[in-house]
Amino acid sequence: MSTHTFEVTELTPLIAPVRAAVRRGLSPADTADVVAARLSGYLTEGRPLPERYRRASPDHYVQHLIHVEDDGSFSVVALVWLPGQCTPIHDHRAWCVAGVAEGQEHEQRYELRTDPLATPHLVPTAEVTNHPGDVSALAPPGDIHRVANSSDALTISLHIYGADIAALGSSVRRVYDNPVTRA
Ligand SMILES: [Fe+2]
Repeated sequence: MSTHTFEVTELTPLIAPVRAAVRRGLSPADTADVVAARLSGYLTEGRPLPERYRRASPDHYVQHLIHVEDDGSFSVVALVWLPGQCTPIHDHRAWCVAGVAEGQEHEQRYELRTDPLATPHLVPTAEVTNHPGDVSALAPPGDIHRVANSSDALTISLHIYGADIAALGSSVRRVYDNPVTRA
């Protein structure tokens, strides 16, 4: 029985190729790269996202759960951001792929430095601004980042995670302070 599959008619052209990619059984990093290519292809088609996945909140960015695969092997969500809304600095439980459907998403990546003579701290590394059609892929470890809507307009991005988001609530493994104050 399908326990977490929502109305997916409009998103089937994305979900079916992602399912095929995940079932290849590649490494997490390679799976993320192949899924990123599928998401890129889907975004290039310019299909409008159903209105129910476009709702924003004035309080924080919103995650709309679109699909969870029956075996929990991947999930698809839409993240909707008003200007200035952002995530905390975090990493992930599994590989993840993100693509901008509209607006502009800014990603700051970090590296965790654990020099025994100093307090563990995060060092900013790559920084990228993603526009509609841009896709990025991450796989733990080394996947610490912070994402924000850096534009003055509504931003919507599609994210695909190698995990059951209905069960977990989100893909976040850990939220970081900087300097890092928790083990
Ligand atoms: Fe993330």
